[in-house]
Amino acid sequence: MTQLIDGKAIALQIRQELKIEVDKLIFSGKPVPGLAVILVGENPASQAYVGSKIKACEELGFLSVSERYPETITEEFLLERISLLNQRSDIHGILVQMPLPKHISEKKVIEAIDYRKDVDGFHPVNVGKLVIGEPGFVPCTPAGIMVLLERSGNLPDGKHVVVVGRSNIVGKPIANLLVQKSKLANATVTICHTGTPDIAKFTREADIVIAAAGKPNAITGDMIKDGCVLIDVGINRIPDSSAKSGYRLVGDAHFESCAPKCKAITPVPGGVGPMTIAMLMKNTFSGATGQFFY
Ligand code: GUN
Repeated sequence: MTQLIDGKAIALQIRQELKIEVDKLIFSGKPVPGLAVILVGENPASQAYVGSKIKACEELGFLSVSERYPETITEEFLLERISLLNQRSDIHGILVQMPLPKHISEKKVIEAIDYRKDVDGFHPVNVGKLVIGEPGFVPCTPAGIMVLLERSGNLPDGKHVVVVGRSNIVGKPIANLLVQKSKLANATVTICHTGTPDIAKFTREADIVIAAAGKPNAITGDMIKDGCVLIDVGINRIPDSSAKSGYRLVGDAHFESCAPKCKAITPVPGGVGPMTIAMLMKNTFSGATGQFFY
């Protein structure tokens, strides 16, 4: 029987554990953690993510500030808003939802955020800390994957993990987390990407596959070995006339052909997705307390 890794349940556990810590913090007279989220434009997926992030803050009793701007704002205006949030002592985390309109440099925006409030873990200072194994903000989705592996009993220690995708948000940071010399990591890691001629050659050798290619059906059943663990990071909206919304969500792996071969697999939705928000809440708590869990 294939183990279905329930990200929704594990994310709920994390949020419940965090709520206890938040209540202790507030009881001791410390300031409530505060998160600011900036959304530029009308991308429906981004709107949905930002809505979920604000709701999660409210459930934990965090201060949440959201700023929404039209796609036409200038880069200069956005950088000015970030600068104001950097100066606010009641805001411990700043997140600018990506992707941004083409005329705004994501690099400049990321670097404008005070690295001590960079709950996304995208700032070069935090990326550097992750690579050398120093405490700092770790990007939420990779941090969530590490917790899923741990709490589902699929530890990567000594395993060969193949990461498919080399994005700065998922592929590169998860690879860096997995190679750390720690009981919860300690994996041998291969990264495959669009420059890899034969991805299946590598994924067939993997004990754990992290599918983060950003496209549906990037991993199919014939590409994995029996008994592997498959973590599907993809969230793709594909048209579905039978669904009320007109679309349905699929991952980067073809679930029907992969699941029967797997020891364990994450569903989409309900796998990695809910973990991302839970880890964002943990990162905001870290911003307020200076206590890092990585
Ligand atoms: N867009 C997709 N994922 C993310 C994320 O983790 N953080 C931000 N800021 N934008 C995203």
